[in-house]
Formats: sequence, structure tokens, C-alpha cells
Amino acid sequence: MTNDPSRLLLVASNRGPVSYQRGADGSLTARRGGGGMVSGLTSGLAAAAADGGVLWLCTALSDADREAARLGARADAHGEPAVAMLEIPPEVFDAAYNGIANSVLWFVHHLLFDPPNQPRFGVEFRRDWVAYRAYNEAFAIALAAESVADTRVLIQDYHLALAPRLLRDRRPDARIAHFQHTPWAPPEYYRMLPDEVAAAILDGMLGADHAGFLAERWASAFLDCCEAVLGARVMRGAGGGGRVSHRGRVTDVAVHPLGVDTAALRARAAEADVRAAAGTLTGLAGGRQLIVRVDRTELSKNIVRGLDAYRELLGARPEWRGNVTHLAFAYPSRSALAEYRAYTERVHEVARQINAEFGTPDWQPLILEVKDDYPRSLAASKLADVLLVNPIRDGMNLVAEEGPILSERGCALVLSREAGAAALIGDDALLVNPYDVTATADALHTGLAMPAFERRRRSAAIAAAAEAHAPQRWLADQLDVL
Ligand code: F6P
Repeated sequence: MTNDPSRLLLVASNRGPVSYQRGADGSLTARRGGGGMVSGLTSGLAAAAADGGVLWLCTALSDADREAARLGARADAHGEPAVAMLEIPPEVFDAAYNGIANSVLWFVHHLLFDPPNQPRFGVEFRRDWVAYRAYNEAFAIALAAESVADTRVLIQDYHLALAPRLLRDRRPDARIAHFQHTPWAPPEYYRMLPDEVAAAILDGMLGADHAGFLAERWASAFLDCCEAVLGARVMRGAGGGGRVSHRGRVTDVAVHPLGVDTAALRARAAEADVRAAAGTLTGLAGGRQLIVRVDRTELSKNIVRGLDAYRELLGARPEWRGNVTHLAFAYPSRSALAEYRAYTERVHEVARQINAEFGTPDWQPLILEVKDDYPRSLAASKLADVLLVNPIRDGMNLVAEEGPILSERGCALVLSREAGAAALIGDDALLVNPYDVTATADALHTGLAMPAFERRRRSAAIAAAAEAHAPQRWLADQLDVL
């Protein structure tokens, strides 16, 4: 932690960079957390932590976390951010996280609703919304308590859309940035939200001085919503950004694409556990080409249509039967929601069908891996001939950047044009419409048939673009303008 309080940087997010585990002897140990937002911020913050000190406020998500929070634990390794966990009452957290953030805000920004049936905003939604506000208020109170004059505060994501305004009301002098790691919905879709909620979210984010997005499309959709829903005055600048004047304040809106710390990633992938996993996977592939995907089992990731595309590839182009293996990592996610449980079942069912339809005694066409195994997924990225990243919609998608960086022989990237990453690396990918299964199957074929030198050239170009937007720069750019 810093000795100069004015240099302190506060960070706030739902999921934090560590989670606590209780050992057999009853002691609490902190372990690193995962996810795109956490990994980007963690590497980006290392320099800031060494420079002025960082305090990262996040939610206590497990019993061990809550106990650590009660003990006032602040994980604080040398040169890393100090972490303090907020203890939110479980029923408030459940309503705010599952009820609003995951079931409504995630769905609206990823266009996941099923309009004939969902959404349906009744009394239960209104109850959850009260909890969402309380959850944001808890963060605003904690951030205000840690702030001194002109403290810089970085608030992350859709879980904390109201927090910038709630903090501004308490600390008018704070320098607040909000960063949205998801896409942003176009106004006609965003306006499915009840009017007062649609307005409150925008007004909440406009409590910040700076609102950051991962791609031009998302920043521009946010500006459209500010105009359409709030009637705010919007000035548009180059590159998708702009300014919004609302309630006597101005918020700058800007685009900050997130890349990868290539050196750190390659160093991690050179460790013994990844090398061992690569040996196992090489054995499983048995000399065949590998199509790899690495995702959480998340509705927006479009895993079922990806499997359907693989099925169409094998059906339409028999030359690949017996000569390719699809290694699909689909890790458990948000199993508290019925939609996610049903989706996970469909993924398993389609995987079973593909193996039943095409498998032979010496060839399993599809290997579905559902156990969260980071070293194994890094190993798969190293070995991939084709990487499939086909989300319905995605803020950025770091897997699309990490795969080509790690790939040993060079891989062809089949990438959804609806991922934010398409704006950064789309020129060197095979872009697809994620709803078009046949076009995705054709792109898989093109990737498998692509000459090795071309795969290497494209992978190198993608790695260079990712490196140019490494998390350190991504964060420094946000701090420079705050
Ligand atoms: O996409 C933004 C993001 O914050 C990711 O970093 C993360 O994967 C996800 O949303 C949140 O996931 P969870 O609900 O598991 O924290």
C-alpha cells in the first residue's frame, strides 16, 4: 500500500482477483481468481500497484471469503493490489447477481431474451431491483469510506452500473471511471427494460467522469441509448467515443480494446503442468488435426451451434472423417440459473449425438471437456490447428487472441463477427455470422485446409495486435484520461 494517500487507486468489481479457501487446519489461504475482466485488470494493475498502491474492493462470494471479510483480511502480496471483500447479505447478493446482473443485464446486452416468453418484468423483478440498488449502495459506501481528496476509482461492469452515481453523491471530488466488459445493447433492444430501470442504469454510469468500452460498436450503442432514453446531449468523436452532457455533468465515453500480456501468457504456457497436459492431448489427437474451443458453458458463447457446425462439416465433407478431432472445453458456469442448466444438458446431448453418428472403434470425433482445467486448456491452444470462437455476441473475447499467441504451428481462427475482438483481429481471422451453422462449417473446412505458412502468418499478426493492446497499456490509457 502507498504512503501517499492521494496516489491511491481504488478498484471495484463483483468478482475479485482472489478467493479464499479453508485448509484442513482451519487456516484461510488466498487463491487467484479467473475470468477476462479479472485477468486483464490483474496484469494491468501490477504497475499501478507498485507505483502508488491499489485497493481492490470485491464481493465475498463464498463462506471462506465471508470469514476472511469478517476478519478484515486484506490479501496484499508484494507489488499486487490489496484486496478487501465486502460482505453482502446472501439474499441481497443472490437477487442482485442472479436476479438482475446475470438474468437481466447480461441477457439484454448479449441479446439473449426470447421475446415471446422473456423478459417479464413483474413484482419479483422489482424486488430484485431494490436488492441490486442496495448492492451498488454497499460498494458506494465502502468506496467513499476509502476515498481521500481526488481519489481515482475504477468501477467495473454491469454488476455495478449504479455505483458511479451513488459514489458521486457522496464524494463529488472523486475521479471515477466505469468500464463495461460486455457488449452494449442497441436502444430498441435496451428499451425492453422498464423505463425507470433503463434510465437509472444510464444515469448511474453517467455519474462517472469516464465510461470505457471494449469496442466502437458498444460505445456507440451506449451513446445512442443516452440520447434515446435520457434525452441527454451527445457529442460524437472519432473512433466510436464521444461526450454525454447530463444533469450538469459531462462524461467522456471512450473505446479501450483489451489485448494480452503475450510474454506472461507464453511463460505460463511453458510451465511443466501445461507441457504434461500437451503430451496427453497429443496422444488423444493421434496425429489428426485439432479443432479447439475454450469457453464457459455460457449461453452467449453459442456452443451448441458450434457443435452443429462440426456435425455439418463431418456430414458434408467425408474427407475429414477420421482425420480431425474436435476438442471442446465447456466449463461449468452460473448453474444457479435454470437456462444455464438446460443449455449445459443440450451441449452434452449434441456431443453424444455427434459421437454416436460419426464415431468408429478407432476414432472419437468429439472430446467434450467439462472440468475446469486451465493448464489443459492452455495446452489445447498450443496444439490447435483451428480455433473456434463463435459467440452470439461478446464484449471482446480473449480466447480469440490467446489461441493464436500460444499456437505452436500457427492456427486458423474461426471468429464470430459479433465479438468485440473482430474489430481488432478480424482481418486475420475467418469471420462468421454466428447464427449461420453452414457458413461456420465452411469456415472450419477453410481453416483445416489452410496452408501452414498462412496459419502462421495470421497467428503472428493476431499476436502482434493483441500485444499492442496489452492490459498494462489498456489500463494506463484509462488512467491517463482520468
Ligand atoms: O465479460 C465480462 C465478465 O466480467 C468476465 O470477465 C466474466 O467472465 C463474466 O463477465 C462474469 O462472470 P461471473 O458471473 O462468473 O463472474
